[in-house]
Amino acid sequence: MTDIEKVAVVGGGLMGAGIAEVCARAGLDVLVAEVGTDALDRARARISGSLERAVAKAKLTAEEGADAETRLSYTADIGDCADRDLVIEAVAEDEAVKTDVFARLDKVVARPDAILASNTSSIPIMKLAMATGRAGQVVGIHFFNPVPVLPLVELVPSLLTSNETTERAADFATGTLGKTVVHARDRAGFVVNALLVPYLLSAIRMLESGFAAAEDIDAGMVHGCAHPMGPLRLADLIGLDTTRAIADSMYAEFKEPLYAPPPLLLRMVDAGLYGKKSGRGFYDYGKDA
Ligand code: 3HC
Repeated sequence: MTDIEKVAVVGGGLMGAGIAEVCARAGLDVLVAEVGTDALDRARARISGSLERAVAKAKLTAEEGADAETRLSYTADIGDCADRDLVIEAVAEDEAVKTDVFARLDKVVARPDAILASNTSSIPIMKLAMATGRAGQVVGIHFFNPVPVLPLVELVPSLLTSNETTERAADFATGTLGKTVVHARDRAGFVVNALLVPYLLSAIRMLESGFAAAEDIDAGMVHGCAHPMGPLRLADLIGLDTTRAIADSMYAEFKEPLYAPPPLLLRMVDAGLYGKKSGRGFYDYGKDA
């Protein structure tokens, strides 16, 4: 365990809810901050639903599930993050939105040694660090979806992150959360998305060009390469809006065509077809997705 006991997660969407859940399951006091009561209600429902499923599947006892619930609190006021040891930002993958969150956290988080972390997949940590007056304490802690299931965390210091911050963040991810850490340099996409996103975009291009049907592309990778899911279903799980945002950041950083989002992805995002979370992407998930 580390000296980190009070955590805030800013953003209670797909990733933020998963991060808050694993922190509460690890025994931490977790505050979830969102922009308004509707978003907070959705975050609470996501986390409670996931804890209930974990209890139903006997991954947690009913008592452990209830204990985790009591360690979670919710706020629409980012100012409530003042007493936190660690704040993990998990808002939309949008540089302007994220830098605004970091500037606000810099004003409100009172502990001088508090760590300000981002779950960004592709936005350089340095850009977020420079929105604060404490770049030495800003670090990337990047989780994978579904957060309760996937063991990996990418740890990403910027050029200005202190060694102490990086070590405390690594201890937190491994010692407290029990995750497996890989270290990456501060380049858009880090390790995993730098490899994964071109693959997902290639599958979308393959579909768009009429080369093969979605089901065949996915079945090819599931049955031919033993992947747990095919690339189009995985893009739906990540969210097509998020996939596009990551591709945009990586293209902006490297100017390589392999990172350019294909037109089909752009049109699907324009249409609000965000994948599993919106009910429809490359597949139809029905109303209850
Ligand atoms: N929360 C908690 N547990 C979940 C879950 C969730 N959202 N989704 C699935 N699970 C659990 C199930 O309870 C089940 O547990 P059990 O085997 O102990 O009963 C186990 O995971 C397997 O689930 P299912 O049987 O329902 O379904 P699958 O076997 O198809 O697995 C999957 C689902 C875990 C999502 C698996 O298909 C998978 O690992 N897919 C790949 C996911 C992946 O690659 N994620 C990385 C995305 S990239 C990313 O996140 C980075 C970002 O920056 C974009």
